Amino acid sequence: MSTQIKKIQIEENGGPEKMLWKNFDLPDPEAGQVTIKHSYIGLNYIDTYHRSGLYPLPLPSGLGMEASGQIISIGNSVSGLNIGDRISYVMELGSYATHRNISAERLVKIPNNIKESEAAASMLKGMTVEYLVERLFKVSQSHTVLFHAIAGGVGLIACQWLKSIGAFVIGTAGSEEKAELAKKYGCDEVILYKKENFVEKVNDITKGKGVDVVYDGVGKDTVIKGLDCLKPRGMMVVFGNSSGNCPPIDPGTLAAKGSLYFTRPTLMTYGANRDDLLHSSSRVFNMIEENKINLTINTDYKLSEVVKAHGDLESRKTVGSIVMINDY
Ligand SMILES: NC(=O)c1ccc[n+]([C@@H]2O[C@H](COP(=O)([O-])OP(=O)(O)OC[C@H]3O[C@@H](n4cnc5c(N)ncnc54)[C@H](OP(=O)(O)O)[C@@H]3O)[C@@H](O)[C@H]2O)c1
Repeated sequence: MSTQIKKIQIEENGGPEKMLWKNFDLPDPEAGQVTIKHSYIGLNYIDTYHRSGLYPLPLPSGLGMEASGQIISIGNSVSGLNIGDRISYVMELGSYATHRNISAERLVKIPNNIKESEAAASMLKGMTVEYLVERLFKVSQSHTVLFHAIAGGVGLIACQWLKSIGAFVIGTAGSEEKAELAKKYGCDEVILYKKENFVEKVNDITKGKGVDVVYDGVGKDTVIKGLDCLKPRGMMVVFGNSSGNCPPIDPGTLAAKGSLYFTRPTLMTYGANRDDLLHSSSRVFNMIEENKINLTINTDYKLSEVVKAHGDLESRKTVGSIVMINDY
């Protein structure tokens, strides 16, 4: 027996209009799988890279890497999960759908006091922050950090996480409104990097010392200049490319600018196995339960309005986390 579902498919790369709603018959879950009815689908910048072709996928392809929902059917050889369980997952392509089948191994149960909308708004972005500030570079209260696009989805979670550690946080933002929001969440200094020279501003703020680590999800427009914000032996972490791919960097540049470190990490690697998934997601849920992170969740979009949601994200109109509601 199959279930009638709808999902987004791209048949070629391009703008938001390339996302097509299609009807499918979803087969029963295979051994080791469950069927989920999605409640909320997390919108992440990586979805736009998949759609545009910046990160190539074999076509045709589904889209979306994160969602929350409830289990409606269970395949053979699955233990520890029941019909009706509230679950969420990340880094499994194909979340832009009303329902899906997925390996039970990729699921995390949502704690009782976390809403499904909160899980979809925080898991991928929060797990990214967890590995960036706790495992890739262990930020401490003695550190000064520059975090680009601080009012974005990853940015607002990072801002609060870093402040809970006690680090000094310098953020960049594309508008006065975004800067105000970041300050509300504890950011110590916000630089309006569209009109201010962020290298000079960081130099002023740190009295010429520079920062210990730069977290850069913006890429092309900021990476090279960001190297000039670092202390000797500082760490440049390029974890995204919302302005476009970062240009090649000569290792000699890192030597000349003070024996700098440079890394280009992904959640795919830092969340590769089940232990990482359980550790990282529980750190995120704990941070929310302990009120160390308050989520800014935009629920203005239905899944059927995904074309508009992508357009708004890419034109820098959004702040915080966006979750799309499954309206089917
Ligand atoms: N490597 C990983 O493991 C990993 C995991 C998750 C996310 N990421 C990356 O983290 C970054 C943030 O993701 P997110 O989903 O939270 O997105 P987001 O930060 O909510 O949105 C992207 C932001 O980038 C800024 N931006 C600067 N130049 C831009 C341009 N030319 N076009 C569009 N936006 C521009 C905008 O903020 P302003 O207007 O304030 O400049 C925009 O709001 C992305 O680069 C994403 O790929 C990486």
